[in-house]
Amino acid sequence: MQLLKVVLCAALTGGVVAHPGADIHAEVQKRAEHLANPSRRTLADCTRELHESGYYKHRLARRLERANALRAELGHAPSADENLLPRGPLEERQRAACVTDPEVTEGPYWVSGELIRSDVLEGTQGVKLNLDINVIDVSTCKPIPNIYVELWGCNSTGVYTGVVAKTNGVGLAAPQEINNSALRGLQATSANGTASFITVVPGHYTGRPNHLHTIIHHGATKLPNNTIQGGTISHVGQFYFDQNLLSSVEKTAPYNTNTQALTLNSQDQLFKQGQGGGDNPVVQITQLGNTVESGLYGFIDVGVNPTARRNPSPVNFWTANGGMPNRASFWQGYPWTKKIREVIGI
Ligand SMILES: *[C@@H]1O[C@H](CO)[C@@H](O)[C@H](O)[C@H]1NC(C)=O
Ligand SMILES: *[C@@H]1O[C@H](CO)[C@@H](O)[C@H](O)[C@H]1NC(C)=O
Ligand SMILES: *[C@@H]1O[C@H](CO)[C@@H](O)[C@H](O)[C@H]1NC(C)=O
Ligand SMILES: *[C@@H]1O[C@H](CO)[C@@H](O)[C@H](O)[C@H]1NC(C)=O
Repeated sequence: MQLLKVVLCAALTGGVVAHPGADIHAEVQKRAEHLANPSRRTLADCTRELHESGYYKHRLARRLERANALRAELGHAPSADENLLPRGPLEERQRAACVTDPEVTEGPYWVSGELIRSDVLEGTQGVKLNLDINVIDVSTCKPIPNIYVELWGCNSTGVYTGVVAKTNGVGLAAPQEINNSALRGLQATSANGTASFITVVPGHYTGRPNHLHTIIHHGATKLPNNTIQGGTISHVGQFYFDQNLLSSVEKTAPYNTNTQALTLNSQDQLFKQGQGGGDNPVVQITQLGNTVESGLYGFIDVGVNPTARRNPSPVNFWTANGGMPNRASFWQGYPWTKKIREVIGI
């Protein structure tokens, strides 16, 4: 606890300079509280059971199959196992070493009511990422089928679609951006707890390294218009990328036209906390062709407690008439109003 206070204190006073639009003090505090919870369980607690149940082995096979199927789509021959997987001992590779349950806030750019679809590109340029998200119940150590995984992230030049905020892209000068739903969507998990998306590697923006956001929904109802309603939310988290991979990605167009200051993972307090308590929020990546531009296959495990209840607040709603502000959301008027600070409790 004492150590936690020291870490938190350092974060509040120094480590995270209040860049406009990316003041993460509140999120750092929330995450610190979560890590300090004595009854917190993570996927690390399931390692043995997932190994013994054959889950890791089966998942490794599925992963190789999928990577080769994606290679075939690009006209590449199948590749041997060794060339498709990051190096390391077999057990490590089976485990995918990608466990995560970093509870963080949804941030100011969550739009609820997005469509159920795996391909969220809508023509967005960038390094294409085929991302499999595996959801596992940390209380039973079993994958969770038939729940909804929501994913969103900013575009390759570090701007969130669908949200008009002073600190996002050109800000209030582009009100029509509220009607842009690219790079946002939901997918149901398969029998093996996997939700698959096609998106881009997100760009960076001032104050934060490249990351994607996720929300895990349970018990929601699918509506005729391909959206979900009701249910509960067990998890609100963020995924990150290996810094070496990002260096390659950031050299390519259009990432290399991003004029916002770059923040490395190692400089980001939320990233560091995301790695706390045995978690690893870094997406494991297989490059499909000879260059990053040929596309990537990504893989990450998310451990959740289905009975946990989070109550994130969407800044906007996606509706039949396009994007609509959620007037009741404390995120309206971001960056940091008195109201936001009150609700978040800092
Ligand atoms: C990112 O979004 C902003 C706002 O819509 C747009 O101006 C910019 O061109 C987009 N970047 C890419 C690479 O599409
Ligand atoms: C968003 O789209 C809706 C429906 O097409 C339209 O009525 C509305 O004016 C658009 N909003 C903005 C800010 O452009
Ligand atoms: C899920 O895993 C089981 C057992 O490992 C396997 O038999 C089954 O084919 C898998 N199903 C899917 C949809 O991948
Ligand atoms: C889908 O239907 C619900 C319920 O009628 C509605 O509230 C929502 O705005 C609709 N969303 C879209 C994108 O059409």
